[in-house]
Amino acid sequence: MTRQAIVAANWKMNGDSALVSSMVSALASINLPSHVDVVICPSFPYLSELNQKITAANLNDAIQVGSQNVSEHDSGAYTGEVSTAILQDLAIHYVILGHSERRSLYNETSLQVAKKVHVALNAGLTPILCIGESEAERANGQTESVLSAQIQPVIDEIGINKFNDVVIAYEPVWAIGTGKTASSAMAQETHQFIRQFLAQHNEQVANKVPLLYGGSVNAANCEELFAQADIDGGLIGGASLKAEQFKTICLAA
Ligand code: G3P
Repeated sequence: MTRQAIVAANWKMNGDSALVSSMVSALASINLPSHVDVVICPSFPYLSELNQKITAANLNDAIQVGSQNVSEHDSGAYTGEVSTAILQDLAIHYVILGHSERRSLYNETSLQVAKKVHVALNAGLTPILCIGESEAERANGQTESVLSAQIQPVIDEIGINKFNDVVIAYEPVWAIGTGKTASSAMAQETHQFIRQFLAQHNEQVANKVPLLYGGSVNAANCEELFAQADIDGGLIGGASLKAEQFKTICLAA
């Protein structure tokens, strides 16, 4: 089964106009593999500028723009929030949801994340649903139960068939921004578990969902990670802020 390969950049609260320009020029200078969807998720203020630069460089088919979050509410008095309608208006295609930083720093629960996945899908956005265990949870042998508990509310909210339009990013919390990447074997084993968990609900859907690995992916380790059977690409943090590194990672997918 061939699945969509995806390399997504999560700039988090980093980046500026200069990075928007240098990233688009860097990606315009290579032949991006046609089987890979490259997604760049800057912070909200740069979404439009990035989209415009991508269009100007004629890269609309190769690069999509994503946001790093969205509100579960439609509109109204929610100061500081951004709705799916606003993202649609800005021609945004992807949205990262349930990142561990949102879960731990802003207390987003799996139920709230599930609701956000639902509203994103209703608006035609592709959610990149992030899941992952902490170091203590892995040490205590709780990885599988933690991941199941993060995915199940989303299945309950949208139904398994809608996972045809969802991307899952497995990001072990202990590997995020630490330089401690999961070994390719450990990452594969966990991705396989995630796919099997989805397959208990619907095997066909499970075989189609792109599963991305995230956590200290860089130009040196991406090839081995992407070569694993159940790893369909990556969600890249720090290394996506360096145009040359990110280019190499896109070419490895
Ligand atoms: O969402 C990407 C992420 O959390 C991984 O960050 O810096 O470890 O690649 P980093």
